[in-house]
Order: sequence, then structure tokens, then C-alpha cells
Amino acid sequence: MSQADRDKWNQRYRDGAYVARKHPSALLAKWLPRLAPKGRPPTAVDLASGIGRNTLFLARQGWRVCAVDISEVALGQLAAAAEEENLEIARIPKDLEAGDVRLDDIAAEGPFDLAIVIRYTNLPVIASLGDILVPGGYLLAESHLVTDADVIGPTDQRFRVAPGELRSAVTGLEIIASYEGIVEDPDRRRAALAQLVARKPA
Ligand SMILES: C[S@@+](CC[C@H](N)C(=O)[O-])C[C@H]1O[C@@H](n2cnc3c(N)ncnc32)[C@H](O)[C@@H]1O
Repeated sequence: MSQADRDKWNQRYRDGAYVARKHPSALLAKWLPRLAPKGRPPTAVDLASGIGRNTLFLARQGWRVCAVDISEVALGQLAAAAEEENLEIARIPKDLEAGDVRLDDIAAEGPFDLAIVIRYTNLPVIASLGDILVPGGYLLAESHLVTDADVIGPTDQRFRVAPGELRSAVTGLEIIASYEGIVEDPDRRRAALAQLVARKPA
């Protein structure tokens, strides 16, 4: 990744990318009731948050959330949406593909009860997320899957995972659920997805 990628994503967000996609990830909505720890405000990090449909969903339910994205334009739009709803959200502009990427700056906001990586493929980062979770914390990940089907998502297959690839990337966590196949989004559009929920041993 590079300045060119940052510019590309910034321009997409200036052009209104994803503004209409307000629904949270169906995977997150389904699992969230089971993920919050008891007795304290839960904490989450949303990696490659974009304008924060999932960040906002978590924050509205009382989670303290840290949003990370390469696009400062997206994070600015997220900040404005959060302010409108009086939600406090930490934001870290960061290129998660800058060489040998370190997560120290993100770890400083944690450790987290939940890390989510939704519709962004970065297997090395997924492999290292156990380090920023509390014992018993969860990882919820969803990547576009390689397919011949007519679906939404990247046309460049490099930005999709092969069958089994997302599961294989997870290290040090117990995978408690996973799925690969075609999913219909709440807006009726079809996506080919690899999804998983994993838990760090307590
Ligand atoms: C398809 S969007 C998904 C956004 C959000 N997770 C969601 O589900 O709505 C992919 C996101 O990845 C971010 N992204 C792309 N490359 C990145 C990188 N190298 N580091 C951090 N974020 C990146 C983009 O800015 C964009 O917000």
C-alpha cells in the first residue's frame, strides 16, 4: 500500500462511497449479544472501519470503539456522524499494509474485548490480532471470497481470499464459527464471503 492507495480511498469517500450502506454487518449483528463481557463497558477495535457503519453500531450499544482506517476522509465522516449522535469514538488513521506493520499505536488504545475486520483482506494483520485482545476476547472477520458468481466486492481477485485462507490466517485463537459462501446483504445484494468468529483462550 502507498500514498496512491490512501489517495484512492480518500477520493472514493469524498465521492460518497458507502454512504448508502448504513446497515451493520449481519455477522456482527448476529453475534454481538454473545460477545460483550459482563460487568464493565466493552471495548472494540474496528480495523479498516471506513465511515464506520459497524463502529457506530457498536458505539450505539455502549461499546467503546476505536476505528482504524487508511482514509482520513472516511474517519472524518465517521467523526461527524459520531458527533451528531453524541458518541465518543477513538480514531487512528493508519496504513495497515505499510511494510512490516506494527500495531503498537492501536494496542495503546486496548486491550480489546473484540476486534472486527469486515470486508477488508489483510491476513498478516488478522494473524496478529490476538496480541491486542484481552484473554477471552473475540475476533470477528469477514473477507470477500474468490468466486465466479455475480456478486459485489472487489473485481481484482487479489483482494479476495481463497477457500480456507481466512481460517488458516488465524493464529493463537480458537475458531468457534466459520462460513464460506454466498450471502445476501440486508440491501438484497449478494456477496461471496469467508466469515469467522474466533476467541482468544481465557
Ligand atoms: C470495502 S471498505 C470496508 C469498510 C468497513 N469495514 C465496512 O465493512 O463497511 C474497505 C476499507 O479498507 C480501508 N483500507 C484499504 N486499504 C487499507 C490499508 N492499507 N490500511 C487501512 N485501511 C485500508 C479502506 O479505506 C476502506 O475503508
